[in-house]
Amino acid sequence: MTIDLQPTTGLKDSIEQRRAARAFLSDPIPEVILEQILHLGLRSPSGYNLQPWRFVVLREQQSKETLQNCAFNQTQIAQAPVVLLCCGDRTAGNSDNIEAVIKLGQANNAMPETFAEYMRSQIPSFFEHHPSFESLEAWTNRHTMLAVAHLMIVAKSFGVDSCPMEGFVGAQVKTAFNIPDTVDVCCILCLGYADKPFKAFGGRFSPEQVCFGETYGAAFSL
Ligand SMILES: Cc1cc2nc3c(=O)[nH]c(=O)nc-3n(C[C@H](O)[C@H](O)[C@H](O)COP(=O)(O)O)c2cc1C
Repeated sequence: MTIDLQPTTGLKDSIEQRRAARAFLSDPIPEVILEQILHLGLRSPSGYNLQPWRFVVLREQQSKETLQNCAFNQTQIAQAPVVLLCCGDRTAGNSDNIEAVIKLGQANNAMPETFAEYMRSQIPSFFEHHPSFESLEAWTNRHTMLAVAHLMIVAKSFGVDSCPMEGFVGAQVKTAFNIPDTVDVCCILCLGYADKPFKAFGGRFSPEQVCFGETYGAAFSL
């Protein structure tokens, strides 16, 4: 039975209050909350709905310590009650996954046969010629990191802190956790309750600094 829990924090506060936690309390994340985080986080969109993200969920202390050893000994990993190895499957454009997405769409009454045929004919050529991405790794990262962003904001809305991490040696992580060659490790995501205080907020560039009007480099103002 799925319990429909409601978030305790609204969207704006979840975004503004989310911080990268560098230390975690030992308190566990209740299973029902973890379920909601995964359920809502995985509503993230993806090209053709191919959903190439894969997550190895680490809850055993031994697993987290192994990961910490592959991650420059960053101590928040072994402290966090749950750590996700956020991976992207380079084979998600293969026919098996295309058929799985079609079946899912059919189960949701959202997959007319014409669109199923369109997917079967278009996706293989999209991956063969890849006009829209430079490398498969860029493609897996694009999608997996979007799901990671969803997961972090959803987690915060349920009072759960996080730390996204790129500071790890990918080859070591792949060996330690049996991750196939066809799968990229995009990010580590620690989840739990922060041992505050957070570091002082470093700020963000303003829209005028990072947005351009109509052409790259042209000034933008609101
Ligand atoms: C993709 C990515 C990789 C990161 N890698 C690490 C990391 O390896 N270790 C770490 O302590 N923080 C890491 N961070 C956290 C950032 O340092 C942090 O998000 C940034 O300084 C902004 O702070 P804030 O998230 O608290 O606003 C990473 C963040 C992102 C998005």
